[in-house]
Amino acid sequence: KQKVILDVDTGVDDALAILGAVLSDRLDVLGITTSFGNVDIDTATRNTLAVLEFAGRTDIPVYVGADKPLLREWQGPVPWIHGTNGLGDADLPPMRTLAQDEPAASFIRRTILEHPGEVTLIPVARMTNVASVIQFDPSIVEKIQRIVMMGGAAFCPGNVTPVAEANIWGDPEAAHIVFHSGAPITMVGLDVTMQARLTTRHLETLRESPYAAFLKQAVSFYIGAYERAQAQEEGDRWCALHDPLAVAMVEDPTLCETREYYVDVETEGRLTAGMTVVDARKTPDHRPNASVCVGIDVDRFLKWCADRIGFAL
Ligand code: BDR
Ligand code: CA
Repeated sequence: KQKVILDVDTGVDDALAILGAVLSDRLDVLGITTSFGNVDIDTATRNTLAVLEFAGRTDIPVYVGADKPLLREWQGPVPWIHGTNGLGDADLPPMRTLAQDEPAASFIRRTILEHPGEVTLIPVARMTNVASVIQFDPSIVEKIQRIVMMGGAAFCPGNVTPVAEANIWGDPEAAHIVFHSGAPITMVGLDVTMQARLTTRHLETLRESPYAAFLKQAVSFYIGAYERAQAQEEGDRWCALHDPLAVAMVEDPTLCETREYYVDVETEGRLTAGMTVVDARKTPDHRPNASVCVGIDVDRFLKWCADRIGFAL
C-alpha cells in the first residue's frame, strides 16, 4: 500500500478527497493534518473528524496544523462556497473523537523520518503545513517520496483572482517554499480539476451508505455555489472535484497527462500575488521543478469517484 498523509482545510471537496483516500485499499493513510483555508482551523479539524466518523475510519489520527499563513493575515472563510459550517451546512454527527496533541508539522516530519522515501504528501489546502516542515528541516525533502498537491493554475484562469488559485493565493510564501524545496512535486491545478465535474445527476444515484445523506446535503450546496459563480452552460448542474483528483493521482498517476516545467510562485505582484508562473518556453531559464497536470482522462477519473464514493455514471 502507498503510504500517504493528507493535508486538508475540510470544505466539501476536501471531504470527498478524505472519503476517497480512507476508503481506498491501495492507500495507507498514516494521518490527516488540518489547516485554515476554506474554514478556520478548529472548523477544519472538526469537519475532518466528522468525515472520518461518517467513513467509519476514526482509527486514522488527525493532527491540528496552521491557523494562518506564514507571513500574512488569514483572509477569512468562504461560507458562500462551502457553507457556514464548511460542509455545505449538512448535518454532522456528534463528535466522539478528538485530534491528537502532537502538532501537524511535527507529525509530518516524524512520519517521513520513520518511513524515509516511502511517504507521499497530499496537500489539498494552503501549503502552510508542508512549508513549515521544510523550513524547520530542509533536509527532510530528500526523504519525501513525492508531494502531490491540489493547487495552482498553469495555463488557465485562477479562481480567487484572474490568475491565482485559492490554495496558492491563501499563502503564497508557503507555496513558494514548497516549489523551491527540491522535493518531487506533482501539481494538480485548475487546468485539470475544473474538468473533473460531479453533477446533480450523479448525486441522484448515490447508493445507500452511512455518508450518503451527508453527501447529498453537502454536495448540493457546493453545486449551488458553482452554479452562482460559473454561469454554467445548459445541461446538468455541476461542481468541480478539485481535491479528490489529487488523491486519485496518487493511486493512478496515469489519470492526468503531466509535463515537466519550472514553476515559480508570485508573492508580491499587486495583480498577480499567488500566481503559479509556469515557464513553458522552449529554453526555460531553470530546470523543471514540477510535473504539471495539463490533461485529464475525465471518464476514468469519474469512474474512480463513482466506484469509491458510490454513485452511477
Ligand atoms: C481549492 O480551494 C479550496 O476551496 C478547495 O477545497 C480546493 O482545495 C480549489 O481552488
Ligand atoms: Ca481544500
